Amino acid sequence: EKIMTPFEAIGEEKLHQLIDTFYSHVHQHPDLIPIFPEDLTETVRKQKQFMTQFLGGPPIYTEEHGHPMLRARHLPFEITETRARAWLSCMNKAMDEVELDETIREAFFSRLVLTAQHMINQPEKED
Ligand code: HEM
Repeated sequence: EKIMTPFEAIGEEKLHQLIDTFYSHVHQHPDLIPIFPEDLTETVRKQKQFMTQFLGGPPIYTEEHGHPMLRARHLPFEITETRARAWLSCMNKAMDEVELDETIREAFFSRLVLTAQHMINQPEKED
């Protein structure tokens, strides 16, 4: 029997709902506003493509944009530990709100924690 990918288990509709909800929080988070574009339409579209393949679905991000090289693509933005925490807190809230299935959620979120840590490219700024 074929094993279901996390993408299949979540379903495209729920995944899209999660990402839309996530960016509605990013858009309002004081630590994240400074580095994100005002119009998040394209960001949302790319993140839906990326998360689809990250969760074992079809490689639609790579088909359009090439290898993700996520750390390199994030280098133009100052990503501190505070910003990584903020990103993860927006995701955690979104997962609550769309009521992502607990069995999927734990493994998915752990992978995001690791990836977020890997994106940190700046020491914390002193004011
Ligand atoms: C793009 C911030 C973590 C996946 C971006 C952009 C910013 C950003 C500012 C550019 C938005 C734009 O111009 O459209 C952050 C911050 C993070 C973080 C502060 C905290 C650690 C992550 C993680 C993932 C991820 C954990 C995936 C698991 C992406 C993808 C893009 C992106 C796929 C689009 C790349 C492209 O332009 O093709 N992120 N990000 N990010 N981020 Fe993150």
